[in-house]
Amino acid sequence: MNGQSGTFSGKIAVVTGGSAGIGLATARKIADGGGTVYITGRDADRVAVAASIPGDVVGVPADSASAEDLDRLFARVRERSGRLDVLVANAAAIVPAPLGSITTEIITTVFGVNIAGTIMTVQKALPLLADGGAVVLVGSMAAHKASRGQSVYAASKAGVRALARTWALELSPRRIRVNVVSPGPTDTPAITQLVPDDEARKVFFSRMGAGTPMTRAGTAEEAAAVIAFVASAAASHVNGADYHVDGGYGQV
Ligand SMILES: NC(=O)c1ccc[n+]([C@@H]2O[C@H](COP(=O)([O-])OP(=O)(O)OC[C@H]3O[C@@H](n4cnc5c(N)ncnc54)[C@H](OP(=O)(O)O)[C@@H]3O)[C@@H](O)[C@H]2O)c1
Repeated sequence: MNGQSGTFSGKIAVVTGGSAGIGLATARKIADGGGTVYITGRDADRVAVAASIPGDVVGVPADSASAEDLDRLFARVRERSGRLDVLVANAAAIVPAPLGSITTEIITTVFGVNIAGTIMTVQKALPLLADGGAVVLVGSMAAHKASRGQSVYAASKAGVRALARTWALELSPRRIRVNVVSPGPTDTPAITQLVPDDEARKVFFSRMGAGTPMTRAGTAEEAAAVIAFVASAAASHVNGADYHVDGGYGQV
């Protein structure tokens, strides 16, 4: 256990898209803090490898765009843990498409995971979510600052931010807090997939970094630290908010 030790003792958490990147770093924080964490991802092998990190970590292969997979995920949580305290809806589809090349398939894919998937993830978790629990939706600075080719993704993440405002209000009688954490450019496998060439990726990050006061991309751990804080009791009066973790990219 690290400095987070005890923060999540006795807590039950789900992190969708927890087999890589920001989701995996978040799962580590929760497990290090003594919590039980269920992680998902579409690739079953990757989920199994990720679930072998230290702590009480359970891998459940599941696609957030599939209602059946989400039912299976929460059935597993119910059967093994009986309730849920923390839900991190992190899984997302990132498909760049400049205006002129946007297809209905791209819209369906991006909105299917980022909006429909987020809605169904939270809605299906509701019966299991304990009063006083925390929901964290992973947004993006793309919702707040333009980036070429990202209009569909940006619109979906703006929708995520809007969902959080309403849900924070609707779930307040049960003291369930709902917040967004919006990373800026962050060095994760998602970016490696978009820009596979090492040199091109360096240029990509240096261009992104050039606009930030910190002149660098963030790490998955830096985003996870804020997600873990917002999900923890230390953030007990934080509700309906959107925390930007972007090195200042969208702030100056
Ligand atoms: N990296 C950035 O610069 C950045 C910036 C702003 C916001 N974000 C947001 O941060 C979150 C995490 O991104 P990341 O960079 O950590 O991505 P990543 O490195 O690609 O990891 C994504 C994780 O989500 C899983 N996943 C993808 N689609 C899924 C689906 N339909 N159902 C379930 N799991 C799914 C992936 O596993 P499988 O592929 O096996 O399913 C993987 O475990 C996303 O919400 C993203 O929009 C990232």
